[in-house]
Amino acid sequence: MDSSRPRCYPARINPEPAMRPLKILPSMLASDFSKLGQEVSDVMEAGGDIVHLDVMDGHFVPNITFGPDVIKAIRKATDKPFDTHLMISPADPYLEAFAKAGSDYICVHAEAGPHVHRSLQAIRALGKKAGVAVNPGTPESVLEYLLEDADLILAMTVNPGFGGQSFIRPVLEKVRRIRDMVGDRPIDIEVDGGVTADNAADCAAAGANFLVAGSAVFKGGPNAYAKNIEAIRRAALIARGEMV
Ligand code: DX5
Ligand code: ZN
Repeated sequence: MDSSRPRCYPARINPEPAMRPLKILPSMLASDFSKLGQEVSDVMEAGGDIVHLDVMDGHFVPNITFGPDVIKAIRKATDKPFDTHLMISPADPYLEAFAKAGSDYICVHAEAGPHVHRSLQAIRALGKKAGVAVNPGTPESVLEYLLEDADLILAMTVNPGFGGQSFIRPVLEKVRRIRDMVGDRPIDIEVDGGVTADNAADCAAAGANFLVAGSAVFKGGPNAYAKNIEAIRRAALIARGEMV
């Protein structure tokens, strides 16, 4: 063997997948809708990374919120990305409108229709990042054949429809399994519902890197947003070994 040549080492067997960056996503559902644009601006200046927008239709979930026109109206309130969480069925007829409104991520529910794979492909064809959400009672097996077509997997940690509900802890076990399924694929894992500074560490340790928080961010009004976001971020970063 030529000793002047660098030795080649075999690839590591089963290396730990690299951690994807941590992002905190304020959910505007918990904000003051009478000044929505100002709330987007305030909460993102306070340190939010991505705006989380909950679209509800009164059919897939028992609540109604807002649609593409409202998202378009608040798009100019920040330069940061918009994550549009569609709790609507059907979703496909509205994907283009949500893309044009300024969404960067569009997430559809696996339970919202028979053709979620088609929805993910349609979102990517619109030039947006495609997300698939699963309710607390939906097993991760529905994701198995969607992994090549998804940029984001959202594990609901409450039953969708309302803010301010309690975090459903058994979902963390599912998040761990999703993390293992995803492996090294470039897919972000999002948890949504009841996330607080008290459970953010567990979410991060389970493998979630997108943490959505509504009540825990907006409690106390605008002067508390930065402190609230920092508390969630700090807990998650410590769990990830990125802060002491
Ligand atoms: C629930 C929504 C969540 C909700 C989170 O259906 O998808 O985004 O607003 O709010 P909190 O953090 O208050 O549970
Ligand atoms: Zn949501």
